[in-house]
Amino acid sequence: MENGSPDAPAERGHWGSKLAFIFAASGSAIGLGNIWRFPMEVGKNGGAIFVLVYILGVAFIGFAVMLAELVIGRYSQKNPVGAIQAIKPGSLWKGIGYLGILTGVCILSYYAVVAGWAVGYLVKTVGGAFKGNVTSKLTAELFTSFTSNPFQVMIFFVLMMGLTTYIISRGVKAGIERWTKVLMPILFVLLIILAARALTLPGAGKGIAYYLKPDFSLLSGKVILFAMGQAFFSLSLGMGTMMTYGSYLPKRDNLVSSAGWVCFFDSLIAITAGFIIFPTLFAIPGTSLDAGPGLVFQVLPLIFPQIPGGYVFGILFFALLSVAALTSTISLLEVPVAYFVDERNWPRKKAAWLMGFITFLLGIPTVLAFGANKFLTKIDFQGKMDFIFGNVSLAFGALLISIFAAYVWGVKKALKEIESGNPKFVLRPVWVFSIKYLSPIVIIIILYFIKTIAG
Ligand code: PHE
Repeated sequence: MENGSPDAPAERGHWGSKLAFIFAASGSAIGLGNIWRFPMEVGKNGGAIFVLVYILGVAFIGFAVMLAELVIGRYSQKNPVGAIQAIKPGSLWKGIGYLGILTGVCILSYYAVVAGWAVGYLVKTVGGAFKGNVTSKLTAELFTSFTSNPFQVMIFFVLMMGLTTYIISRGVKAGIERWTKVLMPILFVLLIILAARALTLPGAGKGIAYYLKPDFSLLSGKVILFAMGQAFFSLSLGMGTMMTYGSYLPKRDNLVSSAGWVCFFDSLIAITAGFIIFPTLFAIPGTSLDAGPGLVFQVLPLIFPQIPGGYVFGILFFALLSVAALTSTISLLEVPVAYFVDERNWPRKKAAWLMGFITFLLGIPTVLAFGANKFLTKIDFQGKMDFIFGNVSLAFGALLISIFAAYVWGVKKALKEIESGNPKFVLRPVWVFSIKYLSPIVIIIILYFIKTIAG
């Protein structure tokens, strides 16, 4: 992003090019959500049926909500609270922005802990933990002993939070985005190589069937809720991230194709990750499908010794995963910081460090929730946070954003803004149908199911 001085909130930078925006937004979208959370949710929710609902959700709802966020952001050129204010002054709708700030801080609090795990695994891999005879028993033990050690985890968590806060405080996202351009394609190539190996392991077939052959008898409100939650989480929707990123877009850009590319890249990475995890899990048995947050950390290291040069692959993999997580953590922190900078005229540094510190405090229970503290472990504190903020709150945010774009601002005005950079909006009727009816109705229905799931 071409930014003015980080302390000059009045000067609003813009992305250097359309491609720069697509990379930045993909950097936000692609992260632990694709590689850690997606396989975990697939494993907990019946496999292929979840994948199917997820893909439909991205295509017919996620894309529409993303376009709505981008267009609100670009039109107003403001942070989520300011953006809603600009369109509907003095209304309660700006609550969408406040909800987004809260959600962003809460998601970041546990997200950065898991990002810290990725860095910890990088260190372990360098140290040779996954060389030689790696069994699922070993990887399970390693995961438990690592995540239950609060001192180790704390170091990596602080590192991740510190780095994120530093980057946001300096407003040096531009540098990070330049890396994203190079590193995300490398991550993708790496995933393809690992998937190719996983798919050719003897016994991989069962995993492929689990991942690709939907069992329709497993379809339920719960599956739809988690699949939609995953779609919003993975695409960074429902809390104003894309609104904020859209606010740095110049008017001439084509929002429709940008949104399309981000949805496409993001899903591609997630789906590819599944092609590594499930074939490996079935070919080298011992890990349970509902291993939860440990799933990926326990299964991935099993594949490294199976390929020539696996040691280097392992290192590269966890290094890139850490970078992918970092481009997401900065986008999570950017939402609250942009609010304090734009609306409260705080210096960027103050906003970043204060928000970073609050997030750090909120993250401590998550650090302790994997064995270190009995109570937090028993209530599955991290799982609860992820359910409330990563599923429910994002879905609720996406609902409000859809209603706001479709009925409060109005489809006509939104379309005028979308079409200012894109005179031939072929998908126009699809978008209008989705944002007015499909998205609100589906989200209302799934939120209704929460009662049965949570209770
Ligand atoms: N989309 C990110 C990921 O998949 C996480 C995220 C969620 C980032 C919400 C910003 C907002 O890892």
